[in-house]
Amino acid sequence: MILKGKEILLGVTGGIAAYKSVLLLRKLTKAGANVNVIMTENAKQFVGPLTFQTLSGNPVTSDLFTLFKSKEIGHVALADRADLLVIAPATANIIGKIANGIGDDFLSTMVMATRVPVLFAPSMNVNMFHSPIVQENIKKLKQHGYYFIDPEEGELACKVEGKGKLADVDDILEEICILLSQKDFKGKRILITAGPTIEDIDPVRYISNNSSGKMGYALAKTAIRRGADVLLISGPTSLKPPYKSKFIKVRSAQEMYEAVMDNFKYFDIIIKSAAVADYKPAKKGEQKIKKTDNDIYLKLTKNKDILKELGKKKENRLIVGFAAETQDILENAKQKLIEKNIDLMVVNDVSKKDIAFKSDYNQCTLIFRNGNILELPKAKKEEVADDILDAIKSII
Ligand code: PMT
Repeated sequence: MILKGKEILLGVTGGIAAYKSVLLLRKLTKAGANVNVIMTENAKQFVGPLTFQTLSGNPVTSDLFTLFKSKEIGHVALADRADLLVIAPATANIIGKIANGIGDDFLSTMVMATRVPVLFAPSMNVNMFHSPIVQENIKKLKQHGYYFIDPEEGELACKVEGKGKLADVDDILEEICILLSQKDFKGKRILITAGPTIEDIDPVRYISNNSSGKMGYALAKTAIRRGADVLLISGPTSLKPPYKSKFIKVRSAQEMYEAVMDNFKYFDIIIKSAAVADYKPAKKGEQKIKKTDNDIYLKLTKNKDILKELGKKKENRLIVGFAAETQDILENAKQKLIEKNIDLMVVNDVSKKDIAFKSDYNQCTLIFRNGNILELPKAKKEEVADDILDAIKSII
């Protein structure tokens, strides 16, 4: 959504990670951005310009003089109409050139001609990365307002282990989204819970539910983009912790209760989108329960209601709950809002197969403490998350 219609310049310099910038380009265009690729001559040794041209649908530029000759667009114009310039991979060479004011090719000239945010994603040999000169150059560029996403640790192309691998392409994409988002939650600390809980019956069996965590993770991602400090407390899911979130993984409702209670006091806003099990087996079998010829009965005991407990300790925090309902949807949700003493209830009709549990989409109704009701349109969970944050903003 953020990237839709955005003009992105992608600078590619000569490192083995240049092949990963093809993937970055693909992801940027899939998200709706128009991308113009600028390659250095050395980058062309690693990946052919035709690949970038085909995937971006735009001519690839390398030569400083081609654009001067062309009537269509000059390098300054390309820089002017962009929303952001990302250099991935960024070699020690391009970092050194920009830090020292050298503009001897199209990319280095462009960086100096642009006023838009410039993000460097360095990738190089570990010793090069840690060399005092490269580090000094990075420090200098940061001081001048350039952005960096650190390389990762791992096995490098030169077969050495260390810090120097290009950052994960999804993280680079997320950093771009963060740089392009308005920071209307700057200074806010938000605790979000997500995913299911798992209540063990014995060492191999458990009770759980269909929550994938997608809704809560989308909220965390969106809140971070909008400038908030986010702690995500999550039950087991297959999702990667959102970029730049603080993250605590839990399993059972009791573990989630403890993690929330240990941390909530440090937060201004709490969003409880986790699907917490209301009941757990009264006794967990130490060994796998044996099959017999008879039926067996599982005694369930109540879990603590985390949201209700938070409602009691609320003070001036803003608390948002989620209600998963299948019948008398609004009445039940209103009842929960009052009972649990919260400010906003996000209501899901979980009987629908195309939204809520597991789906990439959701359609929610918001019930405010003063009784106001707002129907949100069906949309991708990231967009729904933005709508929920807008609603929160309207009451803080
Ligand atoms: O994870 P996804 O696949 O993306 O699906 C998203 C979702 C459908 C799980 C999510 O949007 C949602 O509706 N979450 C709340 C599910 C739920 O537990 O609803 P509830 O009506 O049973 O509980 C109401 C509220 O009380 C919730 O905020 C819940 O976190 C909280 N609760 C419930 C029980 C309990 N013991 N402690 C709690 O804090």
